[in-house]
Amino acid sequence: MRILIEPSAEQAVSRTVGLIAEQMHRNPASVLGLATGGTMEAVYAGLIEAHRAGGLSFAGARSFNLDEYVGLSGAHPQSYRHYMQDRLFRHVDFPRGATHLPRGDAEDPVAAAQQYEARIAAEGPIDLQLLGLGTNGHIGFNEPTSSLASRSRVTCLAPSTLEANSRFFGPGEPQPGTAITMGIGTILEARRIVLLATGAAKAEAAAAMIEGPLSAFCPASALQMHTDATVVLDEAAAARLT
Ligand code: F6R
Repeated sequence: MRILIEPSAEQAVSRTVGLIAEQMHRNPASVLGLATGGTMEAVYAGLIEAHRAGGLSFAGARSFNLDEYVGLSGAHPQSYRHYMQDRLFRHVDFPRGATHLPRGDAEDPVAAAQQYEARIAAEGPIDLQLLGLGTNGHIGFNEPTSSLASRSRVTCLAPSTLEANSRFFGPGEPQPGTAITMGIGTILEARRIVLLATGAAKAEAAAAMIEGPLSAFCPASALQMHTDATVVLDEAAAARLT
């Protein structure tokens, strides 16, 4: 695991944007694995800026997102498809049909997760998988005690994740408790992984991921087994490292 510690969240974000841009320059036909969440908003803003400046194109790329809420269609404002359209896809030049997320509104979510896994296997491997970090150590929606060998499937969100993500839902707006997520085993098959975590709230999970034991209690610790994983932290998120 390569650990990059930047003085501020802004610098950690621009380091991450730089790593993605570098990947796209090296291989314009890259398959990107993408994440959602608050941390990624600034990353996508940075990618849009680089695209508009003229140096970064996704015209030859494809993408697979980590996860999607079960029960939400892509048109729902809280769906991750909507998040991605709004924060990245509609501003850059991915070809039509080249961006993939699990089908949250599928009649049979279990089958939809298996189909998603099969599609990644057929179109992958993912060249660069971008990850955020849950305060409980989750990656994607692989919550603590997920098998480190898990594949894409339907998962139940942990109470702490529901609490952390409730800020994205309006008062009285129903918040899904289940999601389709890539598995940890699926994530580990990416050629390269870049995880970004910023802020003091991530410090404990970051320390467990990097210095703790390899354990299903901290799903992100699975990155210890990957041969090309880069973790980008700001100083606040790195504060609990020894
Ligand atoms: C979402 C995802 C999650 C988030 C994590 C951190 O696609 O994969 O694992 O990356 O929950 O979320 P934020 O950035 O909101 O703290």
